[in-house]
Amino acid sequence: MAVTVVVGSQWGDEGKGKVVDLLASQFDIVARYQGGANAGHTIKWGDREHVLHLLPSGVFAPGVHCLIGNGVVIDPKALVSEIQNVQELGYDLKGRLWVSRNAHCILPYHQALENIRSADRIGTTKRGIGPAYTDKVARTGIRIAELVDVDVFSKRVRTEVERKNLILRGSYGERGLDAEEIIAEYSDCARTLAEYVTDTAHFLHEALDHGKKILAEGAQGCLLDIDFGTYPYVTSSTPTAGGVCTGLGVPPTAITRTIGISKAYCTRVGHGPFPTELTDTTGAHLQNAGGEFGATTGRPRRCGWLDLVALRYSCRLNGFAELALTKLDVLSGLENVKVCVEYEQGGVTDSRFINDARLLDTVSPQYEVMQGWEEDIRGYRDFDELPGAAKDLINRIQSFTGIPVTMISTGPKRSQTIRMGC
Ligand code: GDP
Ligand code: IMO
Ligand code: MG
Repeated sequence: MAVTVVVGSQWGDEGKGKVVDLLASQFDIVARYQGGANAGHTIKWGDREHVLHLLPSGVFAPGVHCLIGNGVVIDPKALVSEIQNVQELGYDLKGRLWVSRNAHCILPYHQALENIRSADRIGTTKRGIGPAYTDKVARTGIRIAELVDVDVFSKRVRTEVERKNLILRGSYGERGLDAEEIIAEYSDCARTLAEYVTDTAHFLHEALDHGKKILAEGAQGCLLDIDFGTYPYVTSSTPTAGGVCTGLGVPPTAITRTIGISKAYCTRVGHGPFPTELTDTTGAHLQNAGGEFGATTGRPRRCGWLDLVALRYSCRLNGFAELALTKLDVLSGLENVKVCVEYEQGGVTDSRFINDARLLDTVSPQYEVMQGWEEDIRGYRDFDELPGAAKDLINRIQSFTGIPVTMISTGPKRSQTIRMGC
């Protein structure tokens, strides 16, 4: 078990935080490989709840190292504030948090550019993610190694702000940004972050050489992948398992296990096609019972039935060996539960996912209607306790995808979990 990967199989918010926190103590290192503070990973234990945005969900597991890889885009101010919050809760990160020198910074001009370019069109989290990855690919990004070198950082920021102000002022009549303000503010962050910055690829290579176990924590989800998601209604990174290698610097041969996380229904935040979306009272029920409001932006999440066509696509793209099914408790009390097994368009049905947003928007989902259950299953920890109808749903998910469900989550807390080999 060298590198195990946890990937969201839908449009994010599948419960990755809960699952990674639960598994973390079995690993030596938990590492984020992509995305940034657009993520909101909720962890609940006892009466406590904490939402992590940039820190890996292993921070609450004693002795486990946490690593932010080169594939992540880091808002230095957001990271400093998260580190402080977690330390205040009594979890020391010194000597166990590692931040890649090569990760790119998100700076104020990224958020400013996003606000005028794409935020409303796509319904982004407005955390500057797209513009930061744009700079990375355009080879104009500022990396963490430069942030912590004050002279280099100052020089780079002056040049970049001058360039960005041409766009902000020239094309859009914005006020523009002040480079000196940014330098002063972010140099403070750099001082705090300096002790955590390292060559994380090197760190991981040595860990692998010493037989350490690594858990790679995906953010967002497969259907938000820049290549395989519902483009352009996607994020700007690679949440799929393929992103682990480029986002951490580990070889594909080091990945020995890939776990997909799926809710027992679907949700989506922001715009974009969602074939099984429910805009009726059942959708409202899922939203209320599941507490479906964004952990990062607080926006209501759109809700709908489980889309098995999309889930199987995700299984194939990521090579999941097992599935963790979350929020099964939310379906309690429904007379029937539906799962989408085909898409229909113009009289033709197909059981393959369509990764073209315009076409996907026009399909009509074809459902299998399954029996629901009344019983409140929140907190159940034993598979045999589940009502027959809930077991039937799990069996259908397994038979459709061909992947075993090895964990069932029946509530937000660590203890509210049925573990079947995971
Ligand atoms: P992530 O982004 O994938 O980590 O997921 P989020 O934290 O954004 O959203 C998942 C939400 O569902 C959080 O509020 C969790 O506390 C909650 N949650 C996780 N698993 C379960 C579950 O099995 N049942 C219920 N009712 N809530 C859950
Ligand atoms: P976690 O890790 C759900 C969505 C946004 C928007 C699109 C692009 O908590 O599952 P971005 O800011 O990334 O450019 O926005 O992606 N999105 C998420 N939706 N969970 C997330 O993260 C998300 N991160 C981004 O709502 O539709
Ligand atoms: Mg989330």
